[in-house]
Amino acid sequence: MADNQGKPTTNDAGMPVSSDEFSLTVGPDGPILLQDHYLLEQMANFNREMIPDRQPHAKGSGAFGHFEVTSDVSAYTKASLFQPGAKTEVLARFSTVAGESGSPDTWRDVRGFAVKFYTPEGNYDMVGNNTPVFFIRDPMKFQHFIHSQKRRADTGLRCHDMQWDFWTLSPESAHQVTILMSDRGVPRTYRHMNGYTSHTYMWVNAKGEKFWVKYHFKTDQGIEFLTDEEADRIAGQDADYHRRDLAEAIKRGENPSWTLKVQIMPFEDAKTYRYNPFDLTKVWPHSDYPLHEVGRLTLNRNPADFHAEIEQAAFEPNSFVPGIGPSPDRMLQARLFSYADAHRARLGVNYKQIPVNRPKAPVHSYSKGGAMRIENVSDPVYAPNSKGGPSADPKRYPEEAVWEASGEFMRTAYTLRKDDDDFGQPGTLVREVMDEAQRERLVSNVVGHLKKGVSGPILERALEYWRNIDKDIGERIAKGVKGS
Ligand code: NDP
Ligand code: HEM
Repeated sequence: MADNQGKPTTNDAGMPVSSDEFSLTVGPDGPILLQDHYLLEQMANFNREMIPDRQPHAKGSGAFGHFEVTSDVSAYTKASLFQPGAKTEVLARFSTVAGESGSPDTWRDVRGFAVKFYTPEGNYDMVGNNTPVFFIRDPMKFQHFIHSQKRRADTGLRCHDMQWDFWTLSPESAHQVTILMSDRGVPRTYRHMNGYTSHTYMWVNAKGEKFWVKYHFKTDQGIEFLTDEEADRIAGQDADYHRRDLAEAIKRGENPSWTLKVQIMPFEDAKTYRYNPFDLTKVWPHSDYPLHEVGRLTLNRNPADFHAEIEQAAFEPNSFVPGIGPSPDRMLQARLFSYADAHRARLGVNYKQIPVNRPKAPVHSYSKGGAMRIENVSDPVYAPNSKGGPSADPKRYPEEAVWEASGEFMRTAYTLRKDDDDFGQPGTLVREVMDEAQRERLVSNVVGHLKKGVSGPILERALEYWRNIDKDIGERIAKGVKGS
C-alpha cells in the first residue's frame, strides 16, 4: 500500500479529486449531478465493504509470528516445518464460535485456535480449538449443533433451552460441555489459553513409517480464566476485550508464545487401543501417550489491515504438507471438504491469491480463470501435455498418509471399544483433575446457565446428564437450580 501521508486524494483509479467535502451540485443550493463519479464510487464501495461473516467463528483476532522447532521429532515426521532448526512464518487467528463479528469476546464459548504455517512445501493449516475434544463425533450433526448454539428462527435470540435440548439429546457432548462450563469456558485472554488439534492426525517419517498424533499448544503465559461475573461485566464494558488485549500485548512487545507438544501413537496401536483414537469426544490420557515437545509458536506482529489480513484469512484443515495427513476421524473427513467450500463462498474461488493466503512456496497448478484472479496463467492449461507444463512426480509426493478400510455401506455409530462411553472422561475431569474450588465454579456456571430459560423435560434431562457425569456434581446442580 502506498504511503498516504500528505498526498493529494485520488479516486480508486488514481485520478486526483477536487474535494473531500462537497459533492458536485448545480449551484450552491441545487441538486447533485450524476457525473460526480467520485461520490458514486464512495457510495458504491461503502455498500460493498462488508463481506459475509464466517458461519461459525465469526468474531476473532489474529497476528503474525513464527514457529521454531526446539526438539527433534524427525523420527516421527518428515514435514520440513518440524525438522530440527526450522523456523516458519505463521499467521494465527483466535475466535469465539457462536457469536457474530461484533459479539462480546467474553461470552462463554469454545475458542478457535487456527494457525497457518507458510512452509517451503506449501501452506500447512492447523485449525483447532482451545479444547482437546468436541461436542459431537459425526459431521451429520454439525450443522444442527451450530444452529442450536446460535439464534432462534422466530425471535432471532440465542436460547439456552435450545442449547440444552441439543446437548442432552447428544450425550457424546458431555465431555466438551463439562470443559465449556468449567473455567476453560471463558479464557482471561487469548494469550492465556491452550490450543489443541483435538482431532488425531497422521505423521509420516522419511522411512514411510506412520504414526497417529494429537497436538497440544500449551500457553507459555499460563492458563487464566474469567469468572462468569467478570465475563458478564466486561462484555458490557468492552466487547473487544480479547481483541484489544492481543493487539496491545504485541504492541508493547509482550509477544505471546505457546509450546507445541504432541502425543504420538504407534500406527498399529490404533486398532486395539481401549478408546477409539479417532473419536473426537475423547482424549488420549497422558499416562497412555505422554507429551513430546516439538517447538515454540510466537506471535510478534499485528495485522496492518484487519480486513485484508484477518477477515480474509482462509484456514482449511485439508491443507497438509508432505509428512502430515488426515485420520479416519469422521468429523475431520467432513472438515476436509467444508472449509475450502466456505472460502469459495465467502471470498471467491481465487481466495488463495489474497496475499494473506498466498503460499510462500511456488504454485504450479492448472487452475485458471475465476472471479478476482490476480496471478497470470500461462499455457499449456491442460495435462498431460507435450509443451513442457508442470508434471506430477509420484516419487516426490507419494500418497503416504494412508490406511486400509473395507466394509459394507452403512449409517451407524463407531464400534464401541472397552472404555468408550460418553460420561467416563468428563467424570475423570470433574473428580480427578478439578479441585474443589473449580468444581464449585463449574456447579455455579451450570446453574446460572440452566436458570436462563431451561425448564420442563429439558431441565430434567440436563440434571440427569450431569448426574451421569458425576453423581455428586449432578445433585449439587439440581439443588442449585431447584433451591431457588
Ligand atoms: P492428566 O492429569 O495428565 O491431564 C489433565 C489435563 O487436564 C491437563 O492437560 C490440564 O491441562 C487439563 N485441565 C485442567 N483443568 C481443566 C479444565 N477445566 N478443562 C479441561 N482441561 C483441564 O490426566 P489425563 O491425561 O488422564 O486426562 C484426565 C482428564 O483431563 C481427561 O478426561 C480430560 O477431561 C482432561 N484433559 C486431558 C487431556 C489429554 O490430552 N490427556 C488434555 C486436556 C484435558 P493444563 O496442564 O494445561 O492445565
Ligand atoms: C470455522 C465447519 C468442526 C475449528 C469453520 C467454518 C466452517 C466450519 C464452515 C467457517 C470457515 C470460514 O468461513 O472461514 C466445520 C465443520 C465441522 C467443524 C463442518 C465438523 C464437521 C470443527 C472442529 C474444530 C473447528 C472440530 C476444532 C477442532 C474451527 C475454527 C474455525 C472454524 C478454529 C475458524 C477458523 C478461522 O479462524 O478462520 N468451521 N467445523 N471446527 N472451525 Fe470448524
